Formats: sequence, C-alpha cells, structure tokens
Amino acid sequence: MHYSEKSLTITINNQTVSYIEEGSGDAPTIIFIHGFPLNKAMWNKQVGALKENYHVIAYDIRGHGDSDAGDDDFSMELFVVDLLSLMDALKIDKTILCGLSMGGYIALYAIENYPERFNAIILCDTNCTDDVPEAKENRMKAIESIKEKGLEQYAEEGLKKLFAPISFSNLKEEIALVREMIIKTSKESLYKTLHALAERKETCTKLPEIKVPVLIMVGKEDEITPPEVALSMHEKIKGSIIHIVEHAGHLSNMENSGEFNNQLIRFLSLIKHL
Ligand code: MLT
Repeated sequence: MHYSEKSLTITINNQTVSYIEEGSGDAPTIIFIHGFPLNKAMWNKQVGALKENYHVIAYDIRGHGDSDAGDDDFSMELFVVDLLSLMDALKIDKTILCGLSMGGYIALYAIENYPERFNAIILCDTNCTDDVPEAKENRMKAIESIKEKGLEQYAEEGLKKLFAPISFSNLKEEIALVREMIIKTSKESLYKTLHALAERKETCTKLPEIKVPVLIMVGKEDEITPPEVALSMHEKIKGSIIHIVEHAGHLSNMENSGEFNNQLIRFLSLIKHL
C-alpha cells in the first residue's frame, strides 16, 4: 500500500488500530475518516498538505486497511466508540473532524452524541439520510454479488461509481490505489460494513443543532451523494459553508486535491481564531 506517511498502531478495546500521525501535537488536531470500502491512504494528499501547520491523524476504521475487524457486528455507533477511544488513547480532548461519505456518517453520529469533543467538522461527499428500502436491498445484493463473482469484480463496479468519468483518463494512479484499497478489505468486513450502512439512522433532524463551524464539500459529478444532497445539508446547518468541487465525482479529495485542499486550508484558517 502506498502510504505517504509511516503507519503506526495502537491497541484500543483489545484491537489494533492502524493510523498515521503527522505534525506537532501543539498544533490544532484534525482527524480524517475515510469512506467505504477504502482506508486512510485516501487522505495522503491532505495529510501532506496540512502536516506543517496541523496535528494530522488519519486512521483505518475497524475491518478496513490494516485495522483489526474484531468479532462484533459493525454499526455507526461502534465506529463512533472506536473514534472516541482512539482520541482518548492519543490524549486528544477536542478535534476538528473531516469525514468523506461513510466517514461523514460517522462524523455526524459523533457530533450528535458528543458535541463537546469537536471544534469543527468537514463533511465531504456525504449525506444525513438513512437508506431507503431500495438502497438497503442493493447492499444485500452487493453481498450476494461479492460471494458469487468475487472481490475483483466488485472493485471494478465500485470504481465506476466512485470516480467521475474524466478521472478514468487523468487519474490512473489514484484509480489503481482505490482498487487496491477495495481488494485489500476482507470479504467479512465488507459484509459487516454493508449491514452497518443499511442499518444506520438518519442524522438530518439533528443538523440544526450543530453549533460548530461546518464546511461541506462535494464533487460536482458525485453520483452517490450528489450536490443537491450537500445543498440540503447546507440549508439545515446554520452558518455552514459549502463548496462544490469541479472535475470530481464521489472521491473529491482525491480527484481534485488542489481545489479540495485550497478550500480545506481556507476554512481551517477562517476558524483558527474562533
Ligand atoms: C462511501 O463512499 O463511504 C459509500 O459510498 C457510503 C455508502 O455506500 O453509503
């Protein structure tokens, strides 16, 4: 796996969590949470861009990348427990949180239940709704399809939804990296996460209660969580900032990292003195 940074491990709740940590512990902390079925390597370009001025952490959600899966069923609630345990173990009282897609679902669950632990959130290519029945059904069909056709085929189909069409000619390395991330995830973890995603609760009704600064970013060509979805969250979160990333699909941070990082850095500078 092509991590730009050195991976570390820590044992929390009897499980090994793999993470990268860069920058000075005295600087403001920002924690990155990846999407499904990816891992912390998707944040390489953000870690590189922020490490001079921030204390940056990107970790693998349980069952993804190099983190243990454990024996429990997965759920968004469990993923939040893992996040808070990681923060406690690393002695991080409060942090800025940046999550993409499933990472955004986790960030929204986390801020809803533990608002005192977060200074600001960045929601990328994500949504606050739960799965409609058809979406739940599609997740169960995905499990059947992995069992029948295998992971390589699942990865090929997934890539078509994750990236904007233009990225297939321009971003061959990123596409290869994402393919590798998907294939590296164990089938058992994919099944458990698909169930967790299907069972997740909506967080839209809680958005007006968010009191910290929020930046929402979305790829203009994101078909999984399109710009309309981001706009609807923006309307519900008072004072939130929204930015639509050009030439990007669902993986806006990887597909147009220049524009994504500029917006991210601008937002972080704006909130520095709050
Ligand atoms: C993700 O990128 O995390 C997934 O698209 C989330 C989902 O399937 O709902």
